[in-house]
Amino acid sequence: MVRIFGPLVGLFFAAALLWSFGVGAVQLIREPEPSTAVKDFHLPPKEVKFTFDGPFGTFDKPQLQRGFQVYKEVCSNCHSLKQIAFRNLADLGYNDAEVKAIAKQWGTKAKTFDPKTGDAGERDNTPADHIPAVYYAGTGNPPDLSLITKARHEGPAYVYSLLTGYTTQPAALLKKYPDSATPDGLYYNPYFANLNIAMPAPLTTDGQVTYTDGTKSTVGQMAKDVAAFLTWTAEPKMEKRKQTGWAVLGFLLAATALAYLAKRNIWSDMH
Ligand code: HEC
Repeated sequence: MVRIFGPLVGLFFAAALLWSFGVGAVQLIREPEPSTAVKDFHLPPKEVKFTFDGPFGTFDKPQLQRGFQVYKEVCSNCHSLKQIAFRNLADLGYNDAEVKAIAKQWGTKAKTFDPKTGDAGERDNTPADHIPAVYYAGTGNPPDLSLITKARHEGPAYVYSLLTGYTTQPAALLKKYPDSATPDGLYYNPYFANLNIAMPAPLTTDGQVTYTDGTKSTVGQMAKDVAAFLTWTAEPKMEKRKQTGWAVLGFLLAATALAYLAKRNIWSDMH
């Protein structure tokens, strides 16, 4: 039975495969996918190097602090960072007093609610509070940025490219797709999925943020620093993960060597 059915089943799968290829080929010839403005003009993230690239990469703490400063002074006007509590900032090298001060001075206050009177109120943030949500009245919805570098392909490079990618709409685009002019209230950015983003360019001038460590705050530098900071917010334990990975590999290697030696020992008198 198996001798008959085996080849039959095989033939069936081979035929199904051929058929699906055939259908695909016919479709390709018949209707080539229409070209669109996005297909022609969307760009992949720029090539950019970070200290945390690769299996040995680590965060550069001064860079994370600069990135946090950019977030605090610019991005936090519109974007929340809900997964991060102020006390987590100790990872960036701030001491307890500094963390306390950052929380206390944070522009958006923590919301309170008095269950006896029903009154809503506000109080200063404490290190245990998470970076609060902000009210945004403009066009579009600024997403929470805690995990954005995980939510986009090549996240850190994407954030960097998006922030440095604002430009005027190319004439070639308008020529080919006359009704694709960037709508009012949106801004042309070839790194954004649909080319027109509701976020106005947040980093526009060199020196917009004053760094305290002497680094020159060019637009490119600020974009890179905040991209690095947002990589940390998305995976604060990245360094630990990499270290654990190497320790596990080392252990497995040692265990394999031991197992091999044990095998040699046990079978040494069997020839
Ligand atoms: C004036 C408000 C405003 C400021 C300031 C601002 N953003 Fe945005 N951002 C937005 C809005 C609105 C969107 C949603 C855009 C859309 O969906 O078209 C957005 C979207 C984004 C996105 C998501 C893009 C995507 O792929 O979906 C990222 C990343 C981002 N902002 C990063 C930043 C960073 C980093 C800063 C600080 C340097 C910043 N933003 C400052 C309003 C702002």
